[in-house]
Amino acid sequence: MPRTPDYFAQKTIIITGAASGIGRAAALIFAREGANVVCADINDKGARDTAAEVNSKGSQALAVKVDVTRRGDVDEMAKRAIAAFGSVQFLFNSAGAAIRRAKFLEIDDALMEKTFALNVNGTFYAMQAVLPHMLANKHGVIVNMASMAHRRGGPGSSIHYAAAKGAVVSMTMGVAREFATQGIRALSISPGPVKTPFQDAAQSSPELVQRFLADVPMGRFGEPQEIGELVLFMCSDACPFMTADTVYVNGGGGWR
Ligand SMILES: NC(=O)c1ccc[n+]([C@@H]2O[C@H](COP(=O)([O-])OP(=O)(O)OC[C@H]3O[C@@H](n4cnc5c(N)ncnc54)[C@H](O)[C@@H]3O)[C@@H](O)[C@H]2O)c1
Repeated sequence: MPRTPDYFAQKTIIITGAASGIGRAAALIFAREGANVVCADINDKGARDTAAEVNSKGSQALAVKVDVTRRGDVDEMAKRAIAAFGSVQFLFNSAGAAIRRAKFLEIDDALMEKTFALNVNGTFYAMQAVLPHMLANKHGVIVNMASMAHRRGGPGSSIHYAAAKGAVVSMTMGVAREFATQGIRALSISPGPVKTPFQDAAQSSPELVQRFLADVPMGRFGEPQEIGELVLFMCSDACPFMTADTVYVNGGGGWR
């Protein structure tokens, strides 16, 4: 929650991955607070659906089709957001995925490259696209999606993904520290398993679901809204000394 009532009213957030899961949940939470929401996703229809829901809550939305692995798309997204709303205060990079599961010796170049293009380059391009504008305003908060996977290393299924999320954690810390005296804060979030389409692959294997749940003392998956509310807090004026680190949200587990 912000310290100042109506803190988010008329302020603008760009959310990548806004068509689904955590990005979509965050979009609706920022809409509840009266923020303008730029709903960006490679899934054009999904982005427009989220934007329509933002509008139905009485907030302004802009749907943008973007492939975050393409710098040109991402630059265009930032330009359109600034043109539509005059100013952008917040960026939430939620677009990301593990692409597919693979044992370490089965990770080929294409899988490694795709995973880094989406999770690392996508986050890198969006930060570079929005930071000059934030620096000119002497204010901005960037929140990037990492994962508990970066602590576990993803043995047996997702070392490619864990390594990419490790890069997101490091890059976020570097950006936060480089711009710390210029009004910019940057944070990452490292969730355990959250109930979204991202987990559908795991849900289809009861064995894998059990493995995840056995490792979460609360005995359940997280809800996407539980991450979205944290994004809101991080962007708010309630935590001005909070920057650089990753925050774990995992029901007490996910450390295996
Ligand atoms: N759900 C979990 O258990 C979990 C746990 C830890 C971290 N995460 C991370 O949280 C973030 C959000 O995941 P989610 O669970 O909401 O998944 P999700 O699949 O519901 O949403 C991901 C969104 O990203 C979009 N996207 C994919 N590739 C894109 C591209 N190239 N350009 C633009 N958009 C693209 C998808 O269309 C989708 O709307 C991801 O970065 C994921 O790695 C998820």
